[in-house]
Parts: sequence; structure tokens; C-alpha cells
Amino acid sequence: MDGDAICRELEEEARKGTEFTAIKEMAVRKVHESHDRFHWTGIYELFPDDTLRLGPFIGAPTDHVFIGMGQGVCGTAVAEGRNINIPDVNRIDNYLACSAETSSELVVLIRSGNTIHGQIDIDSHDVAAFDQDIEGEVQKVANFLAGLYQRRQVDREP
Ligand code: SME
Repeated sequence: MDGDAICRELEEEARKGTEFTAIKEMAVRKVHESHDRFHWTGIYELFPDDTLRLGPFIGAPTDHVFIGMGQGVCGTAVAEGRNINIPDVNRIDNYLACSAETSSELVVLIRSGNTIHGQIDIDSHDVAAFDQDIEGEVQKVANFLAGLYQRRQVDREP
């Protein structure tokens, strides 16, 4: 996966004035298609009530549309302010199963400094599908999106 190439394409869309929602959908699609071991890719967004809400995603529908702070891998990543790479989800207790087929999961935070906007969540049917290189490439896309979330917040301020 080439995070820089994805960011360049997203940047081009943003420059054309494409809506933020469409850019997020595009980011999910491009990340998802960038690797054949990515079987579910989505964005969870952090709302002011400290709940993660499912945004655009590709893959099997999930029951986990809302995830509380500290719940599951996704909520833990927010609570602890860090990315989480779980090589084998069957070996951890605090896991919210999206699909019985999932074996490994990567959560990469979308953040601007101390402000967490959300996260990119990727599931794989393969054990240990994610490594540091992949995390770094996904982080580039997350950082690009963070810039857009940040700009949106600033624009909304009176
Ligand atoms: N497995 C995640 C829930 C999200 S689904 O994987 C899409 C978790 O434990 O937080």
C-alpha cells in the first residue's frame, strides 16, 4: 500500500471542492483496495459524547455502529490515545466481534495533536496481517483526513 499516493488523490479531490463525506468514502475505498489482506475497512468518528460512530465502511455489515470509550479494540485505542495492532483477535478479551471470520485488526487514530477525530479500522481474515510498514502507510491517510477534520472544526467556529 502507498499512503502518499492515496493522499495525493484525496488532495486532488479536496482541491476540486468535493464534499468531505465523499472524500472520507473515497479514503476508505482506496485503503481497502490497497491490500488484498484488508477484508473490512472503515472509519469510526469520535463524537462529543465520547462515543465512536461508524462512518463509511467496506465489508460485512457490523452490529457495532456505536462504540463507547474503552470498549473493544476501537474504544481502547481512543481511551489510551494510541494505535492498536492485534495480530490475533481470538487471544484478547476486550474484543467486539464484527465478523467470525476476522483474525487480526488494526486501528489507526485520526488525530490533530491531542484532538482525536476518529480512527481508521481495518480487519483481516488472516492472522497478523498488519505490520509497522502498513500502519505507517495507513497513518499517512489518517493524518491527511485529520487535516480535513481540523479545518472543518475551525471553519465552524464563529
Ligand atoms: N472489532 C472492533 C469493533 C469494530 S468491528 O471490527 C468493525 C473492536 O473490538 O472494537
